[in-house]
Formats: sequence, structure tokens, C-alpha cells
Amino acid sequence: EWAAASSLRQVVLASPRSFCAGVERAIAVVEQALRQHGPPVYVRKQIVHNARVVADLRDRGAVFVDELDEVPEGGLTVFSAHGVAPAVRQAAAERRLPVIDATCPLVAKVHAEARRFAGRGDTVLLIGHAGHEETDGTLGEAPGRIRLVPDPAAAETVRVDDPSRVSYLVQTTLATDEAAGVAEALRRRFPALTGPGSDDICYATTNRQQAVTEVAARADVVLVVGSDNSSNSRRLVEVAERAGTRAYLVEDVSQVDLRWLAGAATVGVSAGASAPPALVDEVVAALTGLGAREVSEHTTTVEDVAFTLPKEVRQP
Ligand code: F3S
Repeated sequence: EWAAASSLRQVVLASPRSFCAGVERAIAVVEQALRQHGPPVYVRKQIVHNARVVADLRDRGAVFVDELDEVPEGGLTVFSAHGVAPAVRQAAAERRLPVIDATCPLVAKVHAEARRFAGRGDTVLLIGHAGHEETDGTLGEAPGRIRLVPDPAAAETVRVDDPSRVSYLVQTTLATDEAAGVAEALRRRFPALTGPGSDDICYATTNRQQAVTEVAARADVVLVVGSDNSSNSRRLVEVAERAGTRAYLVEDVSQVDLRWLAGAATVGVSAGASAPPALVDEVVAALTGLGAREVSEHTTTVEDVAFTLPKEVRQP
């Protein structure tokens, strides 16, 4: 096994990588809620799509549920970073559950656009992946008026009520090039198409994709730390592959397969916005142990975004 990695010389870390401001805020919400109220704190769905984050918070007293009917009367409930449909808020209100909303402000912005576009009578086309919690939430803002468009083929067939009143939105964690392709296909069919005021794909997604693209160009293989159900992590793998380099998604260091490293001198490393920095450190330590002498960072931009906590858990 050692021989498999004996060619290894250096590790290049993509920067930015790992936690975004929305994920940091969502985790802080649960931590603060646990501190202020004590366990249990109920969290609807995974607070962010990362197995380690969920396991750590569970150890500290968070109880993750799939739906609100699993929350007992009066149970303090946190909505995850991915956002919820209005019907979920309403169900919580009807049960008078105390709620703290950890929806990322940049997801909330897309929800607001959905309400605005649908409210003025548009058919709203949401470019995004089916079955993801974020798209489920956004679709719920105007059931029947918002339609999901997962790929260019769907852009060719999606039906709208009035072709002169069509707008589109984008899931925050899509690949920028892919989303642009779908939007272009929609615009060809619906010349009157209007889009979001500023890009829906968030700064963190955009920055991580740009950094991993440049790292992929310098590396023989790329490892992306992130969970399987993390949309933005999976996109990082695809983006690196489109840059012409083999890339693999790993939950943690235990999933790194030494055969992937055979013959590789330079390994690029990135991590999805929901993957903790500690998991990256463990991967880098293993690569160093395998003989990588040099660890450097390739920085495409420096982020300074931070979001304030919801008022319920804000420190006085
Ligand atoms: Fe928000 Fe983007 Fe992170 S939408 S949760 S800042 S990946």
C-alpha cells in the first residue's frame, strides 16, 4: 500500500474551502440553543448536510427529526440551513412549537424572489435538483406556479402558462457553468425570461468551485471532503473533473482509497461548504504521512462573509 503512494510529493489546498457563513451560522444556532435551553433541541432534517456535524451535535443533545410530527408538544425546534416551505412554518405555528430558523439568509433571498416572481403572475422555473431539501422548500413558496428544471433536457420540455411571463431562479449550490447552460436553454425558448436580480448561486459555492478548478489544473488527482448528500460538495467533484482531473468525494480520511493516489505527485484537496475543517486536516495529515513533503494553499479569493444569529439565540 505504501508503494501505491510513493510518488506523492505535494498537497495543494483549494482556498476557499470548507465551512461557509450560512453553515457556521446554522451550527451556531443549534449550539446556542443547547446552551441556553439545554437538551433536547429538535432539528428538522440535518442542520447541514454533513455526517460529522450531525453526529457531534447529536452527542451534545440535538435530536434530528425528519418531520415536525416527531417533535413532542412544546419542543424547541430548529429549521435547517436549507430552508423550509411555508407549509412547514404553518404546521409549526399551528402546534405552537417554539421555532428558531437557521435558514441561510442566501436561501431566504431565493424564497423572497420566488414569492415576488410568482406574485406578479409569472411561471417560475427553478433550476435545481429534485428531492433536495432546498428545492423542496423553494418550490413550496408557490405550489403549482414554480416548476423544477433539473437539466437542459427539462428546459426543452417544461410547460409554462404564459410564455411572456416566465422567470427563473437557481438553487444556491449548483455548478455555475451547468446552471448557466440551463438558463441559456430556457432563454432560447422564452425570450421574455427574466432572472434573479443578482446571482442565486451563492458566493461560497462560486468561490469553492473557482478554487477547485484552479487546483485541479495543478493536481494529478483531487480529493473533496464532504458528505454524499451534500449538493455543493458533489458539484466540487464534478467541476474538478470538468477541469480534466480525476476527483473523488470522501466523507473523511477513512474513505481515501490509496489506489486513487497511484502515480500521483500532486494531490489537490478541497471541501464542501458543510464539511468541517478538522476533516480536511485529517486528510492532509494522512497525505503527509504517505510522503507528501510540501503542503501549500492555492487561494483564489479571501472571504469575509459572516451572518448575524437569529434574535432568539443572539447574545445580549
Ligand atoms: Fe448559504 Fe451558500 Fe452556505 S446558500 S449555507 S452560504 S453554501
